[in-house]
Amino acid sequence: MLEKTLSIIKPDAVKAGYSGKIITMLEENGFEIKAMKKIRLTKKQAEGFYIVHKNRPFYDSLTTFMSSGNIIVMVLEKENAIADYRNLMGATDPAKAQRGTIRALYGKNIEENAVHGSDSKESADFEIPYFFSSIEIL
Ligand code: CMP
Repeated sequence: MLEKTLSIIKPDAVKAGYSGKIITMLEENGFEIKAMKKIRLTKKQAEGFYIVHKNRPFYDSLTTFMSSGNIIVMVLEKENAIADYRNLMGATDPAKAQRGTIRALYGKNIEENAVHGSDSKESADFEIPYFFSSIEIL
């Protein structure tokens, strides 16, 4: 099924200059970029985005990190986009991510792990409109 997923290139990867390499990987793996922008989140906006994690011990650190620099948010479209993008990202912890995945190549640690992707259709339905209105999505 043709699906959309929300992708974020996180502040660590943007700062390190990996954005182009990551976007190339997305295109080479068949993802179409239907919307894209570079923004910087406030702490409050990062907290709102990661609200499902609000009771996790890493919530404060994660939302401080995600508001620490510019990010690139994208809507990606492909058959089976949600699961396929998660496979392309690799495991949350770059040390455990399969070789050749985005996080294995460009992630630093379990928090500064280069990219985010929606983990389910329900998450995508929350995350895409968090950043993009319908007229911004091709
Ligand atoms: P992400 O896919 O954006 O979803 C939640 C984020 O929390 C995750 O990637 C990591 O950046 C961050 N995080 C930090 N510590 C942990 C942890 N112990 N387990 C899962 N996610 C973590």
